[in-house]
Amino acid sequence: MTSKTVAQLLSQDETLQDVSVKGWVRTFRANRFIALNDGSTINNIQCVVDFENFDEALLKRVTTGAAIHVTGELVESQGKGQSVEIVVKTLEVLGDSDPETYPIQPKKHSFEFLRENAHLRTRTNTFSAVMRLRSSLSFAVHKYFNENGFNYMHTPIITGSDAEGAGEMFKVSNLDAKNPPLNEDGSVNYKEDFFGKETNLTVSGQLEAETYAMSLGKVYTFGPTFRAENSNTTRHLAEFWMIEPEVAFMDLDGNMDLAENFMKSVLSYVLEKNKEDLEFLEGRLLQEEKTKPQAERSAMSLIEKIKFVVDNNFKRVSYTEAIDILRNSKPNKKKKFNYIIEEWGADLQSEHERFLVEKHFKCPVILFDYPANIKAFYMRLNEPDHEGRETVRAMDILFPGIGEMVGGSQREERLDVLKEKMKALDIDEKELWWYLDLRKYGTAVHSGFGLGFERLVMFATGMGNIRDVIPYPRTPQNAEF
Ligand code: 4AD
Ligand code: MG
Repeated sequence: MTSKTVAQLLSQDETLQDVSVKGWVRTFRANRFIALNDGSTINNIQCVVDFENFDEALLKRVTTGAAIHVTGELVESQGKGQSVEIVVKTLEVLGDSDPETYPIQPKKHSFEFLRENAHLRTRTNTFSAVMRLRSSLSFAVHKYFNENGFNYMHTPIITGSDAEGAGEMFKVSNLDAKNPPLNEDGSVNYKEDFFGKETNLTVSGQLEAETYAMSLGKVYTFGPTFRAENSNTTRHLAEFWMIEPEVAFMDLDGNMDLAENFMKSVLSYVLEKNKEDLEFLEGRLLQEEKTKPQAERSAMSLIEKIKFVVDNNFKRVSYTEAIDILRNSKPNKKKKFNYIIEEWGADLQSEHERFLVEKHFKCPVILFDYPANIKAFYMRLNEPDHEGRETVRAMDILFPGIGEMVGGSQREERLDVLKEKMKALDIDEKELWWYLDLRKYGTAVHSGFGLGFERLVMFATGMGNIRDVIPYPRTPQNAEF
């Protein structure tokens, strides 16, 4: 008899004589009811044992966390809470679990505690739901791009260029740290290192993706990226996954349309496919909300928030308009912001971004045309505005509760303008010779963006800490597991 998953059994609408299922015991109640879960669904299947038919010593081993194999008859459930249950005929303990030391007791655990036990936390409802959603969202990402004519490109993890300037980098080296080969001036001689030059873990696949966009047309990457910033926030990881599409002959408006359409598509996918997990997470959030003062409670439930994003247009606002809104805002006038917005040109802090999306617009916002000097070198320069101010064709997409979800731009395709910009920023042309080649041979308008996958998972699950939406978070002072 082949085993079925709990999800398969629970979706049966007829009784079955002989079923077989394997999973981990969540609880064993009254020496009679086993709640069994195998990760295929948020729901447990109830397995009913008649203790008179089983050895007492065997039943003692049916403890929370034990792996068991059950066979029996699938019948309509007598009790409430489930439609079907298994009347157990045979029961085998595949792996014992010591109830004294098993960390995941059938009670509420703090997320901090579960982070320390991240190898077992997916045995809880919350984390199994989050990780099934994460998996589903990843699939939706590939599905979307595949259906829209994109080629999936694997950009390198180890990179020889550090010119993007997206963040601090992790060095990759196999030199002896205690005794590295030195140049005459005492600096480390990287010519003797593995790659014959300094190398790092990538902060973004964008520059390489641009090369493929300029031949394959539409490409995307979806892979791990690394940033050695010492930012211990609920929204930063040192290792995170980024989705980066890059498209030839597409301008910034097309880029905004793509990003918006893409996000709506992947969120609709999980609304449909992960209904039960979302309902569970929504319930969890409602409980959490009840502990907050009325004024801080969210007006919308998790599913309502996701539907709202799917059904409504993102608000598109230029940086210049945003600065006007912020300058005239209450928290700015009353000096409630930590950074008071005084002039055009100020870099926006997350408090400002949150004000715009959560208080002012109350929806996702695409901010575009940022001042040139607060954005990356590769972004396309606009004509100076009527006051002579320089902006670039950049866009950031800000989400309620999350802040920056996407950063992207139309790329500078004009060789002379790009070279000038690099010179001003002291970026070595020799290091990016291949990037400049794209502007020499058949250059064209092109655009793309990067979406932090974990931030999307945070939004879709309602989890408040980015450490809780990736299996094994890498953060300053922490690389356990
Ligand atoms: O805005 P960023 O730095 O943009 C880039 O790296 C561009 N090269 C992308 C492109 O145009 N192809 O990063 C993109 C997104 C951010 O909006 C944010 O969602 C996420 O990546 N992100 C992080 N997520 C988690 N932890 C961090 N430390 C992150 N840094 C950025
Ligand atoms: Mg950014």
